Amino acid sequence: MKQPKRYLITAALPYANGLKHIGHLAGAYLPADIYVRYLRAQKRDVVFVCGSDEHGTAIPIQATKEGTTAQAIIDKYHPIIEQNFNDLGISFDIYHRTSSPIHHETASEFFTALNNKGDLITKESEQYYDEQSQSFLADRYIKGTCPNCGFQAAYGDQCESCGKSLSPDELINPVSTLSGNTPVKKLTKHWYLPLDRHEDFLRKWIIEEHGNDWRSTVVGQCKSWIDGGLQPRAVTRDLDWGVALPNDVEDGKGKVLYVWFDAPIGYISATKQWALNTGKDWKPYWEDQDTKLIHFIGKDNIVFHCIIFPVMLQLHGNILPTNVPANEFMNLEGDKMSTSRNWKLEMEDYINDFIKPENGGSQLADTLRYYLTAIAPESKDSEFTWKGFQDANNSELVSIFGNFINRALVLMHKLCNGKVPPLHNELLDELDHATIEAIQQSKQKVEQLLEDYKFRDAQFEVINLARIGNQYMQKKEPWILAKQLESNPAAQQLINNCLHICLQLTANLAILSNPFLPFTAKKICYLLKVVDKILDWENAGSMKLLSVGYSLRAPELLFRKIEDEEITNQIEKLKAAAVNKEPIVTTINTNNTQSAAIADTTSVATTESTDKSPVKPEIVFDDFAKIDLKVGTIVAAEKVEKADKLLKLQLDLGFETRTIVSGIAMHFAPADIVGKQVTVVCNLAPRKMRGIESNGMILMAEDANGKLHFINPEDQINPGSGVS
Ligand code: 2FM
Ligand code: ZN
Repeated sequence: MKQPKRYLITAALPYANGLKHIGHLAGAYLPADIYVRYLRAQKRDVVFVCGSDEHGTAIPIQATKEGTTAQAIIDKYHPIIEQNFNDLGISFDIYHRTSSPIHHETASEFFTALNNKGDLITKESEQYYDEQSQSFLADRYIKGTCPNCGFQAAYGDQCESCGKSLSPDELINPVSTLSGNTPVKKLTKHWYLPLDRHEDFLRKWIIEEHGNDWRSTVVGQCKSWIDGGLQPRAVTRDLDWGVALPNDVEDGKGKVLYVWFDAPIGYISATKQWALNTGKDWKPYWEDQDTKLIHFIGKDNIVFHCIIFPVMLQLHGNILPTNVPANEFMNLEGDKMSTSRNWKLEMEDYINDFIKPENGGSQLADTLRYYLTAIAPESKDSEFTWKGFQDANNSELVSIFGNFINRALVLMHKLCNGKVPPLHNELLDELDHATIEAIQQSKQKVEQLLEDYKFRDAQFEVINLARIGNQYMQKKEPWILAKQLESNPAAQQLINNCLHICLQLTANLAILSNPFLPFTAKKICYLLKVVDKILDWENAGSMKLLSVGYSLRAPELLFRKIEDEEITNQIEKLKAAAVNKEPIVTTINTNNTQSAAIADTTSVATTESTDKSPVKPEIVFDDFAKIDLKVGTIVAAEKVEKADKLLKLQLDLGFETRTIVSGIAMHFAPADIVGKQVTVVCNLAPRKMRGIESNGMILMAEDANGKLHFINPEDQINPGSGVS
């Protein structure tokens, strides 16, 4: 197959409104990174762009939650997310920001180009307006009663209780979350991208041209959108946060581009900034047909990358994506990953618990990369379990991959004087030949699977080669041959052959594993005393990677075992931090509906809605009576080391003072809560969190903005008073 001249790889720009979890990582960034590392090893011309999506209502909403400004939010989260990606080996060429001037210029020019050509239409419509704050209200800023289930705090775009997609007009008794007032209707003008004009193009391009080479889940979702009838999509908003409409646009004052119009243009502005940084030309990456543009995303971003952005690109004269290998969702321990319910594993937490040097170092970044790829949700939703993570590490990386390389090096030091032994061709038997052939074939297999975006299978082939190595060594038993040396000195030649093949196989493993396990590949190079250059893909399959007589380093373990206790702690931590709301179900399936994916607050790889009923299943009084609730006074509070969300509290309960660990550190400063009274569940079984035993739980109420409030008596009363 003819190779394109260059590649431009994008990974969905995450909202800089909070920390990102491993569902995001597995959905877009990790597969993109594997692909890019493979292309780089192939010496192809490739640029990998990503960055923060810093607009949309997600940012100001988070600012309200944290009691700060939108600018402060993006300035806080952008560098942390960038560092997290870096710690996990995600090797962007640029991690840009949509708040940058170059992005504002690029997005604004893009809008002007389309507007001037008559590719946009304008419409006037009545929208909700808050007279007190003198602003039109984005859907997320309006709350009211859901017409479907009666839930009283449904958002203007979706009811989080029943999951139904809504428009603000459908809400009963709408209220502005900015002022608490009832909003009024006011006429406003907006610009629309008339997608209906482009149905023929989309049908031909997606279904006819890519119906067979794109993932069926992606094509299926696109088809259902097109079949559902494409409508003009508003590309502007009445907001004060975003890319302002160009000054010369009539009636454009006070309006910004819709975040989903400007965010994908962020890929272009990131490429421009990369070109400025490196002295290259950005244009061919977006204008020359001999560029392969690949968007890595989660499934909730499909419509934007396969329908809306391609129409924009086409109208603007840019190239179209060659493929959009979107992933399905990854669940966690039997439930949807969810930021609002805190049911997630944040990259930051994983890094703190496993990657910080004292906890295991970068090898543990590879463990996470390995497990997430092994369970990649490429064709259907998948499930991360801590047990599965432990098994993947202990039974595959430690016992197969690491063990093979370790044994090869140990035996070479013991039986071949620490040097690569020669190969005695005349003595090679069938098993030797089969193993050499397996090494050579692995390259083609892995390569083909990577070219087809089948990362899970590709990684399986790599680990399989290590498995073949182990079996080979097990059958050859060089340690037994060593015992025969005195009576049969010729056995040394058989030992040499075995270890020569094992060492060449090890070097091959470094090359083949490099896209998946980059830290490990580097460490293998260190052990083999070879430069990273050996990792060039063209070297894979070779049996001449290590020269005979070359002395190698003493073995060092590549992976450490993960202990049961670490896993139990993680599960406990997950459960302790979870916010107990109704179980969450997804509303998005592969045949997505148009409305389900349009909220601009959806995240890269998760879209959530709550279960059907806002009330938990009925219980009898006896169930309730089992819970011992008492009023307690917080007498001391401190942050728990290395745990952003936890506070260690001392509660005076009248009859005793006890320790409770509570996940409220993001909401309250320790000094501000000492002296406060709270309601305590006193008879909850003790639980260890970060090594601290927590004896009970304090009750909290969460308001519409996600802010937590203590449940306490109106006036100070004696600690220990019962609550019933
Ligand atoms: O879903 C999200 O998190 C969006 N911020 C993704 C944007 S991708 C691209 F268009 F920039
Ligand atoms: Zn509802």
